[in-house]
Amino acid sequence: MWSFREWVVSPGAAYHAAVSAHPARTSASGRNSSGDDVRPSRGTPLVNDLSIEDMEREARTLIGEMAYAYYSGGADDERLLMGNVAAWGHWQLHPRVLAGIRSVSTATSFLGSPVRSPVAIAPTAIQGLACEEGEVATARGAAAAGSLMILSSLATCPLEDVAAEADGVRWMQVYILRERARTEELVARAAGSGYRALVLTVDAPVSGLRLREWRIGMHLPDNLALPNLAGDSTSSAREGGFMGVVTREFEPALTPDDIGWLAGLSSLPVVVKGVQRSDDAARCVEAGAAGVVVSNHGARQLADAPATADILPEIVDAVAGRAEVYVDGGVRRAPDVLKALALGARGVLVGRPSLWAVATGGSEGVARLLTWYETELRRAMALCGVGTVDAIERTLVRRTPGWEIPGVLS
Ligand code: FNR
Repeated sequence: MWSFREWVVSPGAAYHAAVSAHPARTSASGRNSSGDDVRPSRGTPLVNDLSIEDMEREARTLIGEMAYAYYSGGADDERLLMGNVAAWGHWQLHPRVLAGIRSVSTATSFLGSPVRSPVAIAPTAIQGLACEEGEVATARGAAAAGSLMILSSLATCPLEDVAAEADGVRWMQVYILRERARTEELVARAAGSGYRALVLTVDAPVSGLRLREWRIGMHLPDNLALPNLAGDSTSSAREGGFMGVVTREFEPALTPDDIGWLAGLSSLPVVVKGVQRSDDAARCVEAGAAGVVVSNHGARQLADAPATADILPEIVDAVAGRAEVYVDGGVRRAPDVLKALALGARGVLVGRPSLWAVATGGSEGVARLLTWYETELRRAMALCGVGTVDAIERTLVRRTPGWEIPGVLS
């Protein structure tokens, strides 16, 4: 068994033990028929001691203040940044006992693609600021952990290189640009490179007011480019930073018809990211979306918006099983993943934790992070008396006293 000391001294070796010897490998069908014994097997660490806060501190020293400001910052006074994290505490897990659960499996599927756990990598831009390999490292780590990665269209690695270097499940995030031919080109490239879905981000008609980024003069360094966007984005990001790219180049006047437009460009399903209202979620589904991501862009757009954990159930209710619902924002602990699933999400995305992981540990760091979420999710599921992801249901969560919403659960 791996001791804490061995884990610290040799994280790479421990990671390999955790990942390769891990019994949670999914079958081709995506279901883990035997499940994992609730006890860790021999060779699997009893505790994966990982602190996202420590990783963030270390990442800051490694990547420097400009990249740190870009990755860590939120919009306006950043009230929603902590709000997203805190809102998961507005829910409690309500554990079931005497459930006779001997084995637990976190395996599930996202739009039919099998994954080892319901935690996926959110699309985050400019990962070349975190480590030299950028998005290729993140994709390798996600593939090693059996997880989904969503590649940002503002990535610093060509989407083809990411596809060639990592064989995991990948989706491509897309912004519809004012010059639509550029979006059409991106979609054709993604469809030709094995990406399995398009994630249309709809919460950026303009950039949020990102003061940390603005004050530090965030810009794209000369050694990095935005190879997935044809046109002027790279030079504008070098000169004026990203708030300018968003506001000048993104189509501001999107409607549900644009979901159909995007879907018509390829055979890939479209997932709409940045949905915060139940009526909008219903409009996305009616326009043909295969999924929605409940997201406030990691608190980088409108700081006065609600935390995603608070609005997830009403959106799940509005979608009513017609599409898959995902959620992101402030998910920093595996019990929060279980809460999201109990509230009806199919899966969760993590943004900043994956940036700290790739900055501090490259692909191994990302795999270690995802394996940690998976291991601790298994523990939370065992403690709640639930053995499979499909068996997770709403009675496993209740509103924390003091945070009740009239008419929504108890
Ligand atoms: C983002 N996010 C984002 N979303 C998107 O659709 N396209 C993008 O290019 C980016 N870029 C980006 C950069 C950085 C530095 C961050 C932190 C975030 C939003 C991202 O996908 C996700 O919604 C949030 O990061 C989720 O919140 P947490 O997990 O960071 O709290």
